[in-house]
Amino acid sequence: MTGYDGRIAELLGEMTVAEKAELVTGDGIWTTRSVERLSIPAMTVTDGPNGARGGGLMGTGTPTACIPAGSVLGASWDPDLLEELGGLLADECGVKGANVLLAPTINLHRNPLGGRNFECYSEDPVLTGVLAAGFIRGVQSRDVAVTAKHFVANDSEFERNTIDSQVDERTLREVYMLPFEYAVKDGGAWGIMSSYNRINGTFASEHEWLLGTVLRDQWGFDGFVVSDWFAVRSTGPSVAAGLSLEMPGRGQWYGPEKIMEALEAGGCDEADLDRIVVDMLKVLERTGAFDGVGGGEEGQLDRPEDRALIRRAAAEGTVLITNDGFLPLDSSTIESLAVIGPNAQAAKIMGGGSAAVRPYRNISPLAALSERFDVEIRHAHGCDIDRSTPPIGAPLVSSLTADFFNGFDHDGDVVASKAYEKADFKFFGSPTDGVDGTKYSFKATATLTVDFAGPYEIKLVQNGKTRVMVGDKVVIDATDGDFGKGDDFFGLGSAEITGTINLEADTPVDLTIEYSSEGGVMILGCRVGLRALGERDLVGEAVEVAASADAAVVIVGTNDDWETEGRDRDSFALPGQQEELIRRVCEANPNTVVVINVGGPHAMGWIDAPRAVLSIGFAGQELGDALVDVLVGDVDPGGRMPTTVPVRYEHSPAYLNYPGENSTVRYGEGLYIGHRWFDARHIEPAVPFGHGLSYAAFAWDNVRVSGPDSTSFNSDVLVEVDVTNTSDRAGSDVVQVYVEPPKSLLHRPLRELKGFTKVKLGPGETATVQIPLDRRAFAYFDPGDQFFGSIPDTSPVPREKGERHSEPGWYVTEGTYRLVVARSSVDHVASVDHTLVGDEVRIDP
Ligand code: BGC
Repeated sequence: MTGYDGRIAELLGEMTVAEKAELVTGDGIWTTRSVERLSIPAMTVTDGPNGARGGGLMGTGTPTACIPAGSVLGASWDPDLLEELGGLLADECGVKGANVLLAPTINLHRNPLGGRNFECYSEDPVLTGVLAAGFIRGVQSRDVAVTAKHFVANDSEFERNTIDSQVDERTLREVYMLPFEYAVKDGGAWGIMSSYNRINGTFASEHEWLLGTVLRDQWGFDGFVVSDWFAVRSTGPSVAAGLSLEMPGRGQWYGPEKIMEALEAGGCDEADLDRIVVDMLKVLERTGAFDGVGGGEEGQLDRPEDRALIRRAAAEGTVLITNDGFLPLDSSTIESLAVIGPNAQAAKIMGGGSAAVRPYRNISPLAALSERFDVEIRHAHGCDIDRSTPPIGAPLVSSLTADFFNGFDHDGDVVASKAYEKADFKFFGSPTDGVDGTKYSFKATATLTVDFAGPYEIKLVQNGKTRVMVGDKVVIDATDGDFGKGDDFFGLGSAEITGTINLEADTPVDLTIEYSSEGGVMILGCRVGLRALGERDLVGEAVEVAASADAAVVIVGTNDDWETEGRDRDSFALPGQQEELIRRVCEANPNTVVVINVGGPHAMGWIDAPRAVLSIGFAGQELGDALVDVLVGDVDPGGRMPTTVPVRYEHSPAYLNYPGENSTVRYGEGLYIGHRWFDARHIEPAVPFGHGLSYAAFAWDNVRVSGPDSTSFNSDVLVEVDVTNTSDRAGSDVVQVYVEPPKSLLHRPLRELKGFTKVKLGPGETATVQIPLDRRAFAYFDPGDQFFGSIPDTSPVPREKGERHSEPGWYVTEGTYRLVVARSSVDHVASVDHTLVGDEVRIDP
C-alpha cells in the first residue's frame, strides 16, 4: 500500500493478521486494544458532545466542563464560537486522557419529538454543517480527533437500533448527508461514527455506498469510521464497507477470532482489513497516541476563562422570541419579583443519555437571580413535570454511601466504598476499583428527611435485584419476581416498582438500599425515587405568589428524562400543567416574562400572553448566570431560532411519516425539512426559523451582489450589506441569505438558506457584512438515471426517457436567482437578483 508515511507503512508490514484484527476492535467501553509487540498503543475515547465526560457513564464520573447542548449552539449561528468551544473540549479530553471526542452530533431536527433534538444543532443542513465544521476545527486544532455522528438518517430514537430509514438519494445528498460533507470537507474531520439504523435496507455500519463511495471516494475522507456502540451487524461486509473500528470492546463481530474466521471462509479480504488498520494507525498518529498521549488518571480543569466562555456561549444561543420592551428587567421599577416554574429551582442544563456529563457547576435560575438581582425574590414551584420519579438526592438525603462486596450476597469484606449525590446507581462493568464487574452487590445507606408529613411513594427501577428499607421497614423487596420492562437503563431496566410509607416532617430516618447484580444485564444498578402523595394546588400557590409581586419570571421546560437518547418525546406540549401555569400567571400578573428551558421545539399556543418570551435551551453549566445576564440586560441575547416551531404538531413536515411503521421510516417529505416545508405549504409557524430579537436595533443598507455571472463560475458570488447599530447599546445581528432558484429540471424548494454571518456592533457602529456563495449554493442534486433504493427495479419495461440527466451530480442551471437577505425565513429585508448564463454545469458528487 502506498500513501502513508514511513511509520504506518512499516507497522502495517510487520503486523500479523491477528494483530491487525486486534487493532480494529475495542477493548473496554472507551478504549481500543494495543499491540504491545510493536509498541502500538491503545486509544481512549469519550462522549461527547456537550462535554468530555471521561470514563463515567451518563452523567457520572469525573466532573467536567458542560457546554450548552447542540440546539443552543445551533441558535448561536456562530461558527467561531463553536471553534472556541471545540478547543475547550479538546483541553478537557487532554485531562481526561482521551484521544477522541465522540462529537459533534449533526443529525437534523426532522420532527419536533425527536429525543435527541437537544443534541443536534438545527433543522437546517447548511447551518448545521457550517457550525459543525467550526467545532471540529476547534477540537482537532489541539490534536484530539472527533467522530461526527451519527452517519446518517438517525433523526429519531424510535426503534433506533433496527429501523430502516428510507430516504431518496437526492434528499440524502441535499439534506441529511450535507452536514457530514461539511464536517469532512470544511472541518477536516478525522473520524465519523456510523449510525444504528439501516439506510434503504442496509445497516449504516456495513453500508458500502455510504462509507466507501460517498464518504471516502467522493468526499475524500481519510480518517476512521467507528461504529455506534453495539451497532455492528457483520464481519466481512463491515470490513469491506470500511468500518474501521467496532466499539465497545471486546467485539461481537470484530476481534481476531471473528476476523480470522471470515478471512479463512473468504467472507473478508485482507486488503480491506489493511485499509481499516491504516485508518486506526492514522488516528493514533494524529492524536499523539504513539507519543504517549491518552489514558492515565482523569483530571479536572474548571478554569475561570472556560466558565466565562460557556457563559458567553449560553447567552449567544439564547433567543429573545418576543419582547414588548419589558426586557431587560429594570430593578429601579421593580421591587419584588416572582420566580416561578418547575425549572426555576432545578437548573436543567443538559439532555439525557450518552451526552450527559457530571458538570463542574450548576447554578439554578432562582439561585442566580436571588444572588444578582437586587429586588425581593418570591419563589413558587408551579407544577411538577417528572416523567418518572427522579432519584432521591440532596436536600432530601444526606451522606449517601455505598459499600461494595464481590459476590451477590452483601457479605464478606467490603471491597470498596463510595459516596454518591443521588440514589441513581448505573454501572457498565466494574462500579469502582476493586469491584468485580461481573458479580457484585452493594449496600447503600443515607439519612432521609422530608419537610412535610404524610404518605409517600418510594419508586424503584432496577437491572438486578434490590431491596429498599426505611428505618426497619422493608418498603420494597424486588429480589424475586417479574416487574415488567421500563425504558431506563437504555431499555434494560424494570418498570417502576412502588412501595408506600408515611414520613414525619423534619425527622431524619435511615434509608437503606441493598442491590445485587444477579440477573442483571449490561448496564447494571438501580434508581430509587420518592414522591409525596399529598394533594397540593401548586398552580394556585404560584398564581398567588405572582399576584403579590411587581413582575414574574416563569421558567418552564422539560428535563433529561423527557428529552433523552433512547426514546422520543410523547407529546408536543410542555409536560404537566405548564401551559395552564403560564396562562394563569400571565393573568394574575401582567408583567410576566416566560423563559423556555427545552432542547427541541414545544407547543407555544400561549406565546402572546407574556410580555416577553426568552428561549434558553439546555444552556450548560452556567445557565443560571447566563440567563440573568440576558434578563437584566448585561448581555444581548445573541440567539436566532435554529428550528421552526409549528403552531400545531400536525403542521410539522414529517408528521405523516413519523415515527414509522413496520420497521421503516419513510422520509416522505423529502427535501422539505423545516422552513422549506412551511414556505412551500404557506403554513405560518408559531416561531419561524432564524427569528430572534436583540435589545439593540440595526439598519441594513446597500444590499448588493457581485461576482461571476456564468454557470461555470469558480470564484464566489458575494452578497454584501452594510449593517449599522442604530441603538445606544451593543448587540448582535444575523444576516441570512436564502437563495430562490429559477425553474430547474427537478422540483426545488422555493428558498433555501445558503449563507449567514453574525455581526456584533457597538452603539452607532457600521460594518459591511459579506456572505460568499460558492457554486454549490446554486446547485441541486440529480441522482440521474440511477434508481436508488431498496426496491430493485426488475421491470423489463424501460422508463420514459423524458428530459433527464443521465449522470448523477450537482447541477447549476442558467437563469435568474433571487438572493433574499433576511432576518428569518419569513422576515425578508431585501433581495437582489443574480443571473447566471451559459450551459448547465455538472459538478461531481
Ligand atoms: C450513542 C452515541 C454515543 C455512544 C457511546 C450510543 O448509544 O448513540 O452517540 O457516542 O453510545 O456512549
